Amino acid sequence: MKISIKNNQEIEKMRIAGKLVGKVLDMIKSYIVPDISTVELNDICHDYIVYYQKATPACLGYHGFPKSVCISVNEVVCHGIPNKHQKLKEGDIVNIDVTIIKNQYYADSSKMFFVGKCHQKAKNLCKAAKDSLYSTFKIIKPGMQLNVIGNTIQKYICKTPFSIVKEYCGHGIGNNFHEDPHILHHKNKFNTIKLQKGMTFTIEPIINAGNQEVFCEKDGWTVKTKDGSLSAQYEHTILVTESGCEILTLRETENIHSTYINI
Ligand code: MF3
Ligand code: CO
Ligand code: CO
Repeated sequence: MKISIKNNQEIEKMRIAGKLVGKVLDMIKSYIVPDISTVELNDICHDYIVYYQKATPACLGYHGFPKSVCISVNEVVCHGIPNKHQKLKEGDIVNIDVTIIKNQYYADSSKMFFVGKCHQKAKNLCKAAKDSLYSTFKIIKPGMQLNVIGNTIQKYICKTPFSIVKEYCGHGIGNNFHEDPHILHHKNKFNTIKLQKGMTFTIEPIINAGNQEVFCEKDGWTVKTKDGSLSAQYEHTILVTESGCEILTLRETENIHSTYINI
């Protein structure tokens, strides 16, 4: 259990990788329409990453994952496998999770998309997942105990009718996809380490409309809510700075600051 501290050169590479991930998510938005299949969306992302960005889609082949991005629709919690038989329909909510490698460094981010008009409850769920992630940017700073992140997300979500999935965590990231530490998204006493300048990790809360229970399908990847309720997730890769944090995967279309000063 060794948490790596990134130097300026590594941070610069992660900024570049982070921008590329944000551009994939911005690029794919206009393709999210009824009747497109999730494999078509995967292939558009794949070609953009490989041929236009000259980067590597990190999910492809990762522990045997068969596609380049994860696409999780409605009650799918995470790790949805793009599939030619799965077509989007009006009212669906869709998470696309993109991780790329550029110059040996990784960046990982996901967001929700709406297919046409969605129910207000689905929109509220996605907003809660997003805002619970955003709420952590206002508290991260060197010296802070890591579990304050999970405590902050829980404090946000407990004001909503929704629940937090406990099985999947944020993670350190750098020249590996998943590094120490694990970052829990709920109130906990495990994340006792203190943040230091130069740490890079993801925060990726998964929020369910119903209860928190999930199960994994026989394909070994697709995770769903047990009660069939909708699930939403947002993820960013962030850097701990001297005075707060920097969002390495911020998108051009995203309406928040890239740096937060919390000291
Ligand atoms: N991107 C996911 C994460 O946020 C991991 C996907 S692993 C895969 O950590 F193999 F399913 F692609
Ligand atoms: Co991640
Ligand atoms: Co991810």
